[in-house]
Amino acid sequence: MQRTLSIIKPDGVRKQVTGKVLAMFEEKGIRTVALKMLHLTKERAMGFYKVHKDRPFFDSLTTFMSSGPVVVMVLEGDDVINRVRTIMGATDPKKADRGTIRNTFASDIEKNIVHGSDGPESAATEIPYFFSEMEIHAQ
Ligand code: CMP
Repeated sequence: MQRTLSIIKPDGVRKQVTGKVLAMFEEKGIRTVALKMLHLTKERAMGFYKVHKDRPFFDSLTTFMSSGPVVVMVLEGDDVINRVRTIMGATDPKKADRGTIRNTFASDIEKNIVHGSDGPESAATEIPYFFSEMEIHAQ
């Protein structure tokens, strides 16, 4: 059993596709074990994406991520990190397979609707960035 951190980004909340995104995970048998809506400050977004701090898109990305509420969640299941990444599709929606979340809803590589941890090490730091163990409800 594995856990991953996923975020419905401000563009996903604004487009009112939160329920549809959750359904696309749930339809594949992935369990939601923690969920909340937050409005990140620029600093909190910068902390979350600090591995990208030297990338040219860092300032724009963290401004976007703090531009409106997000929905953060912990998802659980077998091989859930890879499965969530498959369901999301490629980072760049133009390269995302048909039927993936990003292919269906995203407009560009930055405003790409959804985030998912890219591996077990990221999941292990990203989950406690938003949730204490008490807020995660194993099913
Ligand atoms: P995410 O999966 O949240 O991980 C890092 C984010 O940076 C990514 O989704 C995109 O939102 C953003 N990103 C990655 N590459 C680029 C890029 N080339 N230009 C702009 N934003 C990017």
